[in-house]
Amino acid sequence: MHLKNLRLLNFKNYEDVYIEFTSKINCIVGENGSGKTNMLDAMHYLSLTKSAINSIDIQNIRHESIFFTIKGTFNKSGRDHEIFCSLEKGKKKVFRQDNTEYEKLSEHIGQFPAVLIAPGDNEIIRDGNDIRRKYFDTILAQIDHQYLLDLMDYNHNLRQRNSLLKFFRDNLSADPDLIEPYNHNLLDLGQKIHQKRKNFADRYFPVFEEKYAFIAENKEKTTISYVSQFDEIDYENTLKTTLSHDIEAQRTSFGIHNDKWELMINGRRLKNFGSQGQQKTFVIALKLAQYDIIKEEKGFAPLLLLDDIFDKLDDRRIHKLMGMVAADYFSQIFITDTRPERTKSILSSLSLEGNIVAINDGKIIK
Ligand SMILES: Nc1ncnc2c1ncn2[C@@H]1O[C@H](COP(=O)(O)OP(=O)(O)OP(=O)(O)O)[C@@H](O)[C@H]1O
Ligand SMILES: [Mg+2]
Repeated sequence: MHLKNLRLLNFKNYEDVYIEFTSKINCIVGENGSGKTNMLDAMHYLSLTKSAINSIDIQNIRHESIFFTIKGTFNKSGRDHEIFCSLEKGKKKVFRQDNTEYEKLSEHIGQFPAVLIAPGDNEIIRDGNDIRRKYFDTILAQIDHQYLLDLMDYNHNLRQRNSLLKFFRDNLSADPDLIEPYNHNLLDLGQKIHQKRKNFADRYFPVFEEKYAFIAENKEKTTISYVSQFDEIDYENTLKTTLSHDIEAQRTSFGIHNDKWELMINGRRLKNFGSQGQQKTFVIALKLAQYDIIKEEKGFAPLLLLDDIFDKLDDRRIHKLMGMVAADYFSQIFITDTRPERTKSILSSLSLEGNIVAINDGKIIK
């Protein structure tokens, strides 16, 4: 699959641009603040219906404007598809494929997958468990639509149960019959989600380890573990036994919303003991494994969006990575860099050619 062209109107620092891309390597170059990341973010919108950077949609409308539109033509299995996304202040986001509007944005997720590797990904390592859960959930959602629906349903039930807990506490009374349907749904959906996360972990981890070992030339031993309260034997009864505690805390203490993905390097926690380069390598390996799994699942390759990938990596790792990325195995790639000569020299040392898109202050200059 590849993106043939992109049209942006009032999206972030772009007023009105149209760009065509090659189906292989595209290098987006320009100084700090010129709009490189914004261009990748527009592609992220077309793939995942939202920004990778700013979750407040209206902040992605160009200052002083009242709407943005992003339009792109994807070619998938030889057929062109036009994806259109538009947002006007005070109105609902509109999303269309080939002029047909989606009823729910979730229907679009997974159809035109993209994998973004960006500096902000560090949060997967540094931040709390919820960020890691969200990261793995986004992968699962792209390969399994039912997973996404179950997860949305689970979160809805969880919010309802938590409101009921608050109600019980405020009224100093608890009616187990009222909470029972939520317990039932949370256990039922939780079990399905847990099983899918477990299966996914078994499939994903070996791919991840292989990617890491390749880039780092086997210098470090990395592991990821998936830990869930659902691994406990007697989980069926837990929501009943924790009710009084939950009312006190006004939150549900048992469930897959507490699942953990633990990232380790040489037997220690990556966040505390990994160097910056090791952490970056880890993130890249996570994303490349994600790429492999999505590709295998879909039968076609996602877009690979590499934002500032060269920072913090030493030359050996850059060459290992680019050598891998440039192999025929990968489909379309977008690479941003502030230093065009660096990108060009890396590509030419690998005998590769890239289409250079030079930008300055939201305008295409080449
Ligand atoms: N809603 C918006 N309206 C107008 N400009 C915006 C909006 N949101 C962000 N920008 C501008 O976009 C620019 C940043 O663009 P971007 O992050 O794409 O830069 P970049 O080329 O990736 O730079 P760097 O090399 O520093 O990563 C900033 O100047 C920022 O002020
Ligand atoms: Mg940037």
